[in-house]
Amino acid sequence: MKNLKGGVAVVTGGASGLGRAIAEEAARRGMKLVIADVEAGAMEQAVADLRAGGAEAIGVLTDVTSAASVEALAVATEQHFGPANLLFNNAGVASGGPIWESTEKDWKWLFGVNVDGVANGVRSFTPRMLAAAAADPGYEGCIVNTASMAGLVTAPGMGIYSVSKHAVLALSECLYHDLDLVGPQVRAAVLCPFYVSTNISQCHRNRPADLVNDSGPTRSQLATQAISAKDLANGTLTPEEVAAITFKAIEEDRFYIYPSPEQLPIVRSRLDHLGNGTNPDIPYDDIPMFKARRDSLKAALAG
Ligand SMILES: NC(=O)c1ccc[n+]([C@@H]2O[C@H](COP(=O)([O-])OP(=O)(O)OC[C@H]3O[C@@H](n4cnc5c(N)ncnc54)[C@H](O)[C@@H]3O)[C@@H](O)[C@H]2O)c1
Repeated sequence: MKNLKGGVAVVTGGASGLGRAIAEEAARRGMKLVIADVEAGAMEQAVADLRAGGAEAIGVLTDVTSAASVEALAVATEQHFGPANLLFNNAGVASGGPIWESTEKDWKWLFGVNVDGVANGVRSFTPRMLAAAAADPGYEGCIVNTASMAGLVTAPGMGIYSVSKHAVLALSECLYHDLDLVGPQVRAAVLCPFYVSTNISQCHRNRPADLVNDSGPTRSQLATQAISAKDLANGTLTPEEVAAITFKAIEEDRFYIYPSPEQLPIVRSRLDHLGNGTNPDIPYDDIPMFKARRDSLKAALAG
């Protein structure tokens, strides 16, 4: 995509972290913004800041787990600005620990936001983008789903988050193939960041009351939370850097967006095991961050 200026970008989870940085980067490129988030106050602040910087922006309170809410977002976008050119299915939440310790409510919450949220965005926006393409040969669109490096590799304690991000990766590849059947004007991409310092370690702030667990986290879940918070704080890229890398990839029509390509050897190692039929190795003793994660979890489980 080359002509972003004057186009429309919709960002779910646009009130915080990566989504907010993506919205700011879109504004820098002269795009109009629709910020969609479940957290009203932060969303209004993001919209006010974008407007103060000279951007045209609206906020649409959206719960991505609800198909009706995301459909209303698509309608509001078209009514206010016309068809979206960029849709960032970015809203996401995290939860970890040994996979057998995740409760039914954990699975429902995490899959509702991370997987249903992306599916809802794809279902409501893709037909509208294809209609815009049919009506205007100059129209270009791209749907960018936020997965994670956790969608490309598995590691101890990544639990249901990693499962959900593998689903986002597969969903995005399916979307890429399917869009390829109907023409070049609407494309797909998948963003796979490594650790970035955002507000995701406080993601329980937006957890619906009916999906809150009856009892508190286990010892090993607490250990996972502590180590994840440390890894996030030590992230080497800022959200703004990830956003700039993302836009460069969109402009170059790249599907896989890897802000931290130095981590790709762990993906290749995983693919070697898959291709060779050898068992997953104990991940990744030679990488201090993963070794620390495993040691801390082992200690917590040994109790
Ligand atoms: N931070 C990282 O290290 C990292 C790494 C890889 C992938 N990611 C992914 O990046 C995306 C953005 O996360 P972030 O790190 O910026 O976290 P963040 O918590 O700073 O931002 C997430 C945003 O999503 C919103 N949100 C949560 N539930 C929602 C719902 N039901 N409907 C609408 N909005 C909702 C939150 O209110 C928040 O504004 C997520 O998909 C996350 O999984 C983050």
